[in-house]
Amino acid sequence: MAEQQFHELTVAAVRPQTAHAKAIRFDLPDALKAEFTFKPGQYLTLRTKLNGEEVRRSYSICCAPGEGLEIGVKHVEGGAFSSYAQGLKPGDRIEVAPPHGRFTAEPGHAWHFLMISAGSGITPVLSIVKSVLVGNPASHITLIYANRNVDSVMFRADLDALKDTYLTRLNLLHVLSEEDEDSELLSGRVDAAKLAEMQARKLIDVTGFDAAYLCGPAPMIKALRTGLTEMGMPLENIRFEIFTPTPYGKSSGEHVSVKAVVAGADVEVILDGTRRKLKVDPAKETVLGAAQRDGVEIPYSCAGGMCCTCRCKVVEGKASMDQNWSLQPWELEAGFILACQARPETDRLVLDFDAQ
Ligand code: FES
Repeated sequence: MAEQQFHELTVAAVRPQTAHAKAIRFDLPDALKAEFTFKPGQYLTLRTKLNGEEVRRSYSICCAPGEGLEIGVKHVEGGAFSSYAQGLKPGDRIEVAPPHGRFTAEPGHAWHFLMISAGSGITPVLSIVKSVLVGNPASHITLIYANRNVDSVMFRADLDALKDTYLTRLNLLHVLSEEDEDSELLSGRVDAAKLAEMQARKLIDVTGFDAAYLCGPAPMIKALRTGLTEMGMPLENIRFEIFTPTPYGKSSGEHVSVKAVVAGADVEVILDGTRRKLKVDPAKETVLGAAQRDGVEIPYSCAGGMCCTCRCKVVEGKASMDQNWSLQPWELEAGFILACQARPETDRLVLDFDAQ
């Protein structure tokens, strides 16, 4: 990935969603329209300075291409950036990097998708739902949306409008964990058992879907992936994006491996054809951590192994990752790694951010 270019955008409108969530729309000058063209499901990275320190966060786009540029922001407890973003109002300006992300769908086909989201995980899913339904009149979506209660449902008006417009093509199932619904099928947690129950009662037919899109906290995604594959859906047809409520950079994902086998490593970073050198102590820091300390610019967004913005290729040496929620098995085999999670295992490590 080439160096991230940030542009100052103006907030055009803010739509409150719940007591803790807002949709923020940006004005997009004509000169930036091409650069900010996005695929449904992608996200924007926002950057600002808080208490003198640069901070970045990624927020998914909630609208369909052609509808402008709007993101969903949910307040995270203890999250300084989300508190700041919640305070944005029309006319405010903030630095934004162009869209990125691989949790996307190609509208225009007669897709039949199963989509499952929890809480703010609805944000990229909403963009995909809108785009797929508009993109082909033969497309169908079953959307299972998990929340604690009615008041925590984000984009309720948008979902109701979609349901009214696509009555026969959108099957929208709200499942609430802290409120009793008329049907017990729509109460409780969305997990593998719930899906099996829905399948048994013919509310869904897992083998009839072209793909499943899952977006929510890591434990939910893990359980649903296992459940769906056991019900007959091929693993390669299950796409997911982790939305974690844990603090920035400390997602509750499983640790792939943490080994500090060298005391300090010389790391070389190749970005846009330029080589920069770093010293990394793998017992104390990741490659991203060392780069930030030394002022070496490398692309990143979530810093939690989830978004893939920091993907690069190991071209010399060896490194391990604390956790990985976004690289595919073929990428691991090809030598790709996440710089935000990477700790050198050899004295010398060369990482190529330009590698495709
Ligand atoms: S910055 Fe998101 S995976 Fe590394």
